Amino acid sequence: MADNEIQDLREALDVSPDNGPLRRRLARVLLTHSRWSDAETELRTLLRRSPADAALNLDLARAFEAQGKHAEASALLEVRSESGAASPPELVLLARVLLVLGDRDRAVSVYGRALAADPAVVDEELAAKLGAIRVAESAPSDAKDADDAVDVERPTITFQDVGGMAEVKEEIRIKIVHPLVHAELYRSYGKTVGGGVLMYGPPGCGKTYLARATAGEVRAAFVAIGVSDVLDMWHGESERKLHEVFERARRNRPCVLFFDEVDALGASRSEMRSGGGRQLVNQFLEEMDGVRTSNDGVLILAATNAPWHVDSAFRRPGRFDRVLFVAPPDAAARADILRAQLNGKPQHDIDFAGVAARLKEFSGADLKGVVDRAVEDKLRDAIRTGIPAPIVTADLVRAASKAAPSTREWFGTARNYALHANQAGIYDDVLRYLKLS
Ligand SMILES: Nc1ncnc2c1ncn2[C@@H]1O[C@H](COP(=O)(O)OP(=O)(O)OP(=O)(O)O)[C@@H](O)[C@H]1O
Ligand SMILES: [Mg+2]
Repeated sequence: MADNEIQDLREALDVSPDNGPLRRRLARVLLTHSRWSDAETELRTLLRRSPADAALNLDLARAFEAQGKHAEASALLEVRSESGAASPPELVLLARVLLVLGDRDRAVSVYGRALAADPAVVDEELAAKLGAIRVAESAPSDAKDADDAVDVERPTITFQDVGGMAEVKEEIRIKIVHPLVHAELYRSYGKTVGGGVLMYGPPGCGKTYLARATAGEVRAAFVAIGVSDVLDMWHGESERKLHEVFERARRNRPCVLFFDEVDALGASRSEMRSGGGRQLVNQFLEEMDGVRTSNDGVLILAATNAPWHVDSAFRRPGRFDRVLFVAPPDAAARADILRAQLNGKPQHDIDFAGVAARLKEFSGADLKGVVDRAVEDKLRDAIRTGIPAPIVTADLVRAASKAAPSTREWFGTARNYALHANQAGIYDDVLRYLKLS
């Protein structure tokens, strides 16, 4: 019966191919009968004439999604979203597609925008999937600190998603992944597990990203704390909050507990004269030593851009006894990062190695900026023509020519410390990187 109707509509369209309402009817019938590819053809024809039609765009994106063409669906909807034209149902679909493409953060934010525009578009299934990303704990014992800002995440990225950094990954494997995965073996050799890894280096080179990937690698929970948050937000009761942070990690073990900007804590001991600052540092060290409770299954990572401000008490055995330099990505890693950033986006035959070779000293964040810029330029073109075109090498080269690396400034400072305050050789890697040793 459907075939008859489709046949009739096609014949009528042969006679009057410009009859828009008729072609729309045909597209709808094709969609309701899951003839996705045929529907796609008709919708493309219709959109050439009315590129701004929200219903047609939504239908085409649905047809893409149903055929597993997620990159096409996202490109189309991104164009709509960028220009502010996307309807709430289009945004919900975009969020769904982004989730499939692995861009969870954006999926959450786009879905949030859809709900804000129209609460009626709620998609329970999608919400459940997105909700699983940030699990706010709901155990009764948490009632007292339910108001705090410590989220427990379940990262899905792993070391594979992190370009380059072979040495740093290996150190993290030895120091914290293996002891967790092969706990029995370690115990049989009487090797106790403890202590953490402190990463340092210029901004945007993947410290936070790698910490999150470490949690994903061992399928552990992930709790990330900005140390200055502890100091600011919880003014006056920082010690109690810090204790709760550790407790929360222990309750969620295995758990990667990540302290960002850990220099803020170290600085507070040497530079602040108040007893409060010292108490907080002592509390931190005590928690790290696991004096009160065992830290088994709690993996501690920390990061800083200013290792020279981190109190040396943190580097004692059993604390942050591995200090790792996270350098800007080398050419191969840059190519990996570019490839990862473009994953799922429409592209054609990109010379990743060639582009990466031009981007010396660029951080991961800088590279992301280059890709973002290339995508934006492409979107602008697509809005004009109504047809998303794939990203090619020339687009990246053009975007790269407008950008500069952000890591130089950091090395300006680091160089001085490495040359003149290199206690225990902790900055040897920086000297090596700068070819000064
Ligand atoms: N090696 C890498 N592989 C893949 N992506 C990377 C890599 N390094 C950086 N990135 C990308 O760059 C972004 C910025 O990196 P990240 O936030 O981890 O840097 P950071 O070292 O923590 O910087 P900051 O010191 O400013 O906190 C990441 O979200 C990721 O998208
Ligand atoms: Mg960071």
